[in-house]
Amino acid sequence: MSTNITWHEGAVTQIERQQLLGQKGLTLWFTGLSASGKSTLACVLEQHLLHCGIASYRLDGDNIRHGLNKDMGFGPKDRVENIRRIAEVAKLFADATLITLVSFISPYREDRDAARKLHEESGIPFIEIYVDAPLEIVEQRDPKGLYKKAKAGEIKEFTGISAPYEAPTSPELHIRTGELSIEDGAKLIVDYLTERGYCK
Ligand code: PPS
Repeated sequence: MSTNITWHEGAVTQIERQQLLGQKGLTLWFTGLSASGKSTLACVLEQHLLHCGIASYRLDGDNIRHGLNKDMGFGPKDRVENIRRIAEVAKLFADATLITLVSFISPYREDRDAARKLHEESGIPFIEIYVDAPLEIVEQRDPKGLYKKAKAGEIKEFTGISAPYEAPTSPELHIRTGELSIEDGAKLIVDYLTERGYCK
């Protein structure tokens, strides 16, 4: 626990930063089972946004676990801390005016709600996107062979098999990747952002 620390206000307010850079940040929070399509959707969307001249950046669970969160495992306590940290990072990126795309399983509703609260307290939009594919489908896809290993007991506490996934109850967007192509799924997100003036 840090003590004797003082918040240091910058010389530029959040609104001034947005005006100077001509962009408002927000966080798109993709949640769903492994192999549901979170990372693929986030990649397509990041590419689209960048091609439209919108500064965007992706924070991917697998990738962040190679660096910042390399000390995190998959037990409940570590998953909570994994999400707490990335929520803080996403908030900073979005405050810096980036459209920030977070693709973590983020299995616990309470942690996603805490991430939302953290953003909203700072005046930053938080858009939860439930990337929904049924377990039978993600097991069939199994691009990394992880479901097979989990079912054989070679991976413990695997989400959907031996660890819980709490589906969102009221996400801003619900993308059924078992029924839609990635392009159609990405289009739903672009349409959502465009309708609300977040992207041209
Ligand atoms: S979490 O639940 O949000 O902390 O997980 P996350 O940081 O997104 O990491 C998920 C990726 O880690 C790989 N992997 C596992 N996932 C779930 N459970 C277990 N036990 C596990 N072990 C390794 C897997 O490749 C996940 O990537 P995605 O992109 O979701 O398939």
